[in-house]
Amino acid sequence: MPRLAGKTAIITGGAGGIGHATARLFAEEGARIALVDIDSSALDQVAASVREAVPGAEILAIEADVGQESAAGQIVARSLAAFGSLDILVNNAGIRSYEPLEAAKAETWAKVLSVNLLSYAYLAREALPALRRSGKGAIVNISSTHAFNPRAGMGQYDAAKAGIISLTKTLAFEEVDRGVRVNAVCPGLTLTPFHVRRFAAEGRSEQDLRTEQVDHNIQRRWADPREVAFPILWLASDEASFCTASVIMADGGTRV
Ligand SMILES: NC(=O)c1ccc[n+]([C@@H]2O[C@H](COP(=O)([O-])OP(=O)(O)OC[C@H]3O[C@@H](n4cnc5c(N)ncnc54)[C@H](O)[C@@H]3O)[C@@H](O)[C@H]2O)c1
Repeated sequence: MPRLAGKTAIITGGAGGIGHATARLFAEEGARIALVDIDSSALDQVAASVREAVPGAEILAIEADVGQESAAGQIVARSLAAFGSLDILVNNAGIRSYEPLEAAKAETWAKVLSVNLLSYAYLAREALPALRRSGKGAIVNISSTHAFNPRAGMGQYDAAKAGIISLTKTLAFEEVDRGVRVNAVCPGLTLTPFHVRRFAAEGRSEQDLRTEQVDHNIQRRWADPREVAFPILWLASDEASFCTASVIMADGGTRV
């Protein structure tokens, strides 16, 4: 029996590396998926790729800017109109910013917080009635190792990621008697198309990145996005029925 048979999921940031891997794994495990992203052409490509890899996969592609509060209700309404129910919300959309705090602009703060933190809160708020009706509702919020290990230069991103941990636990406490579990996954270095493009600009190939040793973690390597998708799948599934307010580090063992 597939682990998500009969379940419906919303995945934000679905056109990115971790979103794509998660959508594919969820489809393999029988879920119907509303895949949300602001990048419509990448979204269509990912939806097509998942349908090709998993024949019969039911994927609804929703182009939306989750940084807008009004998008949350529309995404949930479209998902419910298409599938009739909702069991899983994966808040995964994220943007990066590279301003040291001494120079951090209000508009950058607003953008990073609206996409990386507030969208998680608004999507959860709008999804909660349907998740409660599910009886086994699950929210999985994608944070980062940098929620716990902030560094110089990405303070807005790291603060938002720390906020996701707090939001996850608060929501878990608030929803525990309504049957909705809320957990977080903190990926470490994950080799997504974003990073491949970033390093290509420095003359380093994907193959270089796959073979070079890294200092960030004790496995000394990047994760494949599918290695992050598996803990997301597990937390979303009924196998994780005793896990709520939990944080799973999918990071190869971060060095502190
Ligand atoms: N890749 C890593 O090394 C890594 C490490 C730690 C945490 N994460 C987190 O994992 C999540 C996924 O990361 P990824 O590496 O797959 O990133 P990615 O950049 O490949 O994907 C993010 C997706 O979010 C979408 N998005 C951005 N703004 C949006 C908006 N306003 N509305 C809707 N969609 C929007 C982008 O278009 C993109 O498709 C992010 O939250 C990221 O912060 C990634």
